[in-house]
Amino acid sequence: MIPTLDDLGDVAGKRVLVRTDFNVPMDDGVITDDFRIRAALPTIQWLTSRGATVITASHLGRPKGRPDARYSMDPVRARLAELAPGVELLENLRFDPGEEGNDPAFAASLIDGIDAYVDDAFGACHRAHASIVGPPRVLPSAMGLLLQKEVEVLLGLREHPKRPFVAVLGGSKISDKLGVVESLLNVVDALVIGGAMCFTFLAAQGKPIGASLWEPDQVDTCARLLATSAARGKPIHLPEDIVGLDAGGNFATYGTRLPDGAKGFDIGPGSAAAFSDIIMDARTVFWNGPMGMFEDDRFAAGTRTVAQAMADTKAFTVVGGGDSAAALAQFRLDDEIDHVSTGGGASLELLELGDLPGLAALRGAPNA
Ligand code: 3PG
Repeated sequence: MIPTLDDLGDVAGKRVLVRTDFNVPMDDGVITDDFRIRAALPTIQWLTSRGATVITASHLGRPKGRPDARYSMDPVRARLAELAPGVELLENLRFDPGEEGNDPAFAASLIDGIDAYVDDAFGACHRAHASIVGPPRVLPSAMGLLLQKEVEVLLGLREHPKRPFVAVLGGSKISDKLGVVESLLNVVDALVIGGAMCFTFLAAQGKPIGASLWEPDQVDTCARLLATSAARGKPIHLPEDIVGLDAGGNFATYGTRLPDGAKGFDIGPGSAAAFSDIIMDARTVFWNGPMGMFEDDRFAAGTRTVAQAMADTKAFTVVGGGDSAAALAQFRLDDEIDHVSTGGGASLELLELGDLPGLAALRGAPNA
């Protein structure tokens, strides 16, 4: 059993460490989307309204185990002070190598003077880091309200989705995601692939991809996945057209064969319409990763069309990942989605494996 907030007993007068995922997108020290901070507020308020003193802790970005001003928590601390006055926030956990190294001494330092631990950092629960797996070994612990909701929705998708269940994948963290494609084929009825990921798949089909982003060492994996999907009757839908820049830097639309020097930055209009139809016909859709470089208006159409289909479909819709959530917010469609997850890698891994290191740690807590 994973303990919930009620399993902490009376928290009045207690000091509670809340592990949050405040890894928010930043541009030059300015937070561009505070969704992950707002998402932690219900748990913080649950605790403070019952008389607990809340100390929050999070990582931000990927500093290399030492202080780095670019990843200072100051902007997050300032935003948190506006949303939840009086709640403390520790410095970036990843400034200490003990966090990612899962060092027991670092975990012990985090819980010095702390009475209970709450994990509300869904987005980081796939990391067996000190602040995630250390405190539940010794302290009464619980999952926060955000983590509880995320687990309920994503395990629901995995265990009893309405079919057809379609996963739409994009984004640029190609190798991170290729690993899950195979296991996703066990769960979904079809996969739709756009974003930078698609070029490695197109290359695996023997198509020229010009100078587009791809991972040559993953071509064989993609070829194997295409063969597996065909053998199992679970289609992997790839773009039929691509929008990008030609070798001279001019905007251009192509089929799926890109000339030398051309770079693809978005799926084309034909692909966007086809993907949209698949989303409209599905009964469950999980979307992770934008279809193109939507921050640039010239390459936003594919992601916008997919986001609009997610908003319009009658299917149960779940969106995971900071970039897809930011795209929805940019298009003002976030309210039209059934569940916008705060987790990117974590949502994929939970769908893939049905468990996460952070959840396993909570199951082992002394009060579980
Ligand atoms: C995320 O942004 O997905 C989480 O905060 C985890 O960050 P990480 O991929 O750097 O561990």
